[in-house]
Amino acid sequence: MKLAEAMSRLGTETAFEVLAKARALEAQGREIIHLEIGEPDFDTPSNIIEVAGTALREGKTHYSPSAGIPELRQAIAEYTSETRGVDVTPEQVVVTPGGKPVMFFSILALVEEGDEVLYPNPGFPIYESMINFVGAKPVPLVLEEERGFRFDVSQLRKKVTSRTKLLIINSPQNPTGGMLTREDLEEIAAVAKEHDLMVLSDEIYERIVYDGEFVSFLSLPDVQERTILLNGFSKTYAMTGWRLGYGVMPEELAVHITRLMTNSNSCTSTFTQHAGVEALRGPQDEARKMVEEFKRRRDVIVPGLNAIEGIRCAMPSGAFYVFPNIEGTGMNERDFADYLMEEAGVAVLAGTSFGEYGRGFIRMSYANSIENIQKALTNIDAAVNKL
Ligand SMILES: Cc1ncc(COP(=O)(O)O)c(C=O)c1O
Repeated sequence: MKLAEAMSRLGTETAFEVLAKARALEAQGREIIHLEIGEPDFDTPSNIIEVAGTALREGKTHYSPSAGIPELRQAIAEYTSETRGVDVTPEQVVVTPGGKPVMFFSILALVEEGDEVLYPNPGFPIYESMINFVGAKPVPLVLEEERGFRFDVSQLRKKVTSRTKLLIINSPQNPTGGMLTREDLEEIAAVAKEHDLMVLSDEIYERIVYDGEFVSFLSLPDVQERTILLNGFSKTYAMTGWRLGYGVMPEELAVHITRLMTNSNSCTSTFTQHAGVEALRGPQDEARKMVEEFKRRRDVIVPGLNAIEGIRCAMPSGAFYVFPNIEGTGMNERDFADYLMEEAGVAVLAGTSFGEYGRGFIRMSYANSIENIQKALTNIDAAVNKL
């Protein structure tokens, strides 16, 4: 079979491969602690499940409009207006099956062969994958450990060229847990305006924040016409398997992203969208409790990792990942990740799964119980001591 040439440029997410490897070891009777997966280990709040069940029984099982049911677009517009302090209309909202398609569609709709796209590295691997897929040039904004994994905006200024079309930012960030400050975002906005760039702001971890202030790029003055906000329900409401997310963007672009939806998915699952209205408008206490529990776990895993010789771990401000530097162990990140799986029974991801600037780091997700995290720390310490 001769595949289209673009397929050779399409990347993937290693997390799914590592998960498969861990499952294979488990099938042989090995016990593996899963710290590789980027999803909350909690159940979806029951009020959301109830509404989905009712929607199914009431026959909300047909196609919906491609951009989403009016009630959900309205609820998202209201939520975004309230939390960002801007006026968002339902026409600016496109509901998608998960947040990921917003990335896919925005890049397809805006970026042409030969264009340049700035994106965080280490960062969510699909950004680079999609930029390559459309034949554009990925230009990394290197995240720096000593800056709490924020990129230096002067780096951004140096890397913008006349070919730069789109700038991708992600805060709180996967895989580092770092968060951009208001000053960072203001400077980024100034660069975007100066060079007339579109900005894709991936804010999917907006509600999973422990220290510091979360600032949405969309809340800055005069950026609405160039901003695509990527958001969704997967992380905040533990709804990864439901596939429900959305983009908020200029109405002019929403029309085209909607056309991409019509051409690909037709629409997002209808009863799921009804559950999304409940998620936004119903009680938020379970979502809040989840964040409190993540914080407790963060406060166990970070000091635990720092107590292991050869490992240095920065305190993340948000999301549910730590991104420890493991250079002191004398191993590279891929070998170390393999070693931890084999020797410690702990599944983690190599930092380079998130781009070349993840060299020397691993990513661990602390979406697991404190008991399992403590067990993993003990096993990792023992494995490192054998080196
Ligand atoms: C930074 C970032 N953006 C987007 C997504 C995609 O979310 P969804 O599962 O809603 O498609 C993820 C999921 O891991 C993520 O980490």
